[in-house]
Amino acid sequence: MSAQIRLCKERNFPQTEEGIKQFYDEWAPTLPEEEGYTGPRWAAATMAKLLTNKDAEIMDMACGTGLVAHELTKLGFKNIDGVDFSTESLKLSKERGIYRRLICAHIGTNKLDIQDNSYDGLILCGALVSGHLYLDCMPQLIRIVKPGGPIIFDVDAEFKDGKFEADLDELVRKGLWVKEAYELIPDFVFNEPAHQYAYKVL
Ligand SMILES: C[S@@+](CC[C@H](N)C(=O)[O-])C[C@H]1O[C@@H](n2cnc3c(N)ncnc32)[C@H](O)[C@@H]1O
Repeated sequence: MSAQIRLCKERNFPQTEEGIKQFYDEWAPTLPEEEGYTGPRWAAATMAKLLTNKDAEIMDMACGTGLVAHELTKLGFKNIDGVDFSTESLKLSKERGIYRRLICAHIGTNKLDIQDNSYDGLILCGALVSGHLYLDCMPQLIRIVKPGGPIIFDVDAEFKDGKFEADLDELVRKGLWVKEAYELIPDFVFNEPAHQYAYKVL
């Protein structure tokens, strides 16, 4: 078992940005697609339920090695861009020949080099994890999605605490989005569950 899978299973991720980048840069070249990670398939399936237009422009935020885009193309989507800060993961995403545009950037409260209202929908899959991203990035993600467009994301049981729910509600109170769907995914990663949400940008 690779050190990365062991750390993933133990939820024992590095806690610094450099550590996380190194973790994914090292893991990317050997990351097998069938390692028991069904999250991208679930995310793409939910996008297909919420967006029926296959010409829709979709942002795959924290795209990693491109598993989400791979699943989206199987469902007929073809206009997909991606952002991640792991250069080694982005190399693999590029090799897939799927993405229109790949951006190497930190995702957080910083302003991304993307125009307002650029996308019909956005997926953030497997990235709301300890030491990775937090909900403070959401206003930036909402900014780049067109009103009415879905933002689909997931979170594991450990991360979904009272503060997480309160922070989601705060964005509703601010009038930035409304809840559109929720599903408990039983086997998201290594047969462990995750909570999947979809919010509609206002
Ligand atoms: C578990 S992987 C998920 C990748 C992909 N979304 C998938 O489902 O296959 C998490 C990804 O988030 C990226 N990441 C974590 N924190 C980040 C940050 N602050 N800015 C940009 N990318 C980040 C990592 O480089 C990694 O590619």
